[in-house]
Amino acid sequence: MRVHHIGYLVKRLARSEEAFAKLGYQVERAVKYDHVRDVNISFMKNGDYRVELIEPASKESPLYPLLKNYKNSPYHICYFAEDLEAARRKLESDGFMVIQDTQVAPALDGRNVIFMVSADIGIIELVEENPGGGDF
Ligand code: NI
Repeated sequence: MRVHHIGYLVKRLARSEEAFAKLGYQVERAVKYDHVRDVNISFMKNGDYRVELIEPASKESPLYPLLKNYKNSPYHICYFAEDLEAARRKLESDGFMVIQDTQVAPALDGRNVIFMVSADIGIIELVEENPGGGDF
């Protein structure tokens, strides 16, 4: 499956952007507030590599507790799925489990995403292909 991004959970998004910029990453999508998850999200790119920086906006964010385990580190890889439901069913039959069912992702132009987990490789995210084409 084609990779869309590597998701980093960060404590201070602006500072993480500065650190990635020093490694040659450029902001692809400026910070946007995701009201579904109460997080701030930006995307940065370095060649073909895209990182998603996710900063819990408050202690009420469902992602805030994850900072205990994943502070300033990658915690999921996101893959494109042509057919989200078909991809979910296929991966479920391969042993992956849904941890966050279909939900709109405002930072991904409102496309649907699903989060799944594998006992062997941790958390993955599936995102619908961009209906307008392109690699974002
Ligand atoms: Ni993501």
